[in-house]
Amino acid sequence: MLISVEFVTSAAGLGDFPTDRLPEVAFVGRSNVGKSSLINALVRQTVARASAAPGKTRLANFYRVKRGAAPACYLVDLPGYGYARGGDASAQEFNRLTDAYLARAASPSRPGGVPIGLVLLVDARHPGLASDLEAWRWLQTQDCARGVVGTKADKLSRAERERHGRALQSAFDCPVPLVSAHTGEGLDELWKTIARLPSQTAA
Ligand code: GTP
Ligand code: MG
Repeated sequence: MLISVEFVTSAAGLGDFPTDRLPEVAFVGRSNVGKSSLINALVRQTVARASAAPGKTRLANFYRVKRGAAPACYLVDLPGYGYARGGDASAQEFNRLTDAYLARAASPSRPGGVPIGLVLLVDARHPGLASDLEAWRWLQTQDCARGVVGTKADKLSRAERERHGRALQSAFDCPVPLVSAHTGEGLDELWKTIARLPSQTAA
């Protein structure tokens, strides 16, 4: 499948977001969970900077992608959150930027808004971390359609896949497909989710 991708902008706040109202899917998750790597794996190019040092992505980075005959959309790399909402400087920055980001989202009460879907990334090796559950509770207060995926599946043994798979599903009370940016596992499924989520929100 032919995929074209273009880095569009790094947004620090309200005035910086794209205004063309293409559907957007934003990746949310703790620092180092693999947000940037997953975007690179999805588009099969290194467009998003992935780093060993956590907390590098302080801006919302927008990538305009087109996959096959599907309509174009944005993949959005949101800043990683630290260990809680509130509290330290990185958490405050995350809150300010994500609140501004989501204030544009289409919803039944904002029908002219941007169709946005949210994907929470959690490390499949560590199911049910308090900070991830807190993020999930917060996502559920948003009008946007949302899903959870477990990252770094390549690091799991066969036994862990079973055990962590079940633990993830019960912690988030929804299916949590496993993905790997390294092996490509789960990416076709994730593309289907990306195509579906924003339109669910706008409906
Ligand atoms: P911030 O931008 O700091 O919030 O981090 P991020 O969520 O964008 O994580 P990033 O993609 O930079 O990845 C963090 C580290 O995890 C890097 O060392 C990646 O190589 C590693 N990593 C990411 N995805 C995978 C994966 O699927 N498998 C494995 N084994 N490692 C991964
Ligand atoms: Mg990143």
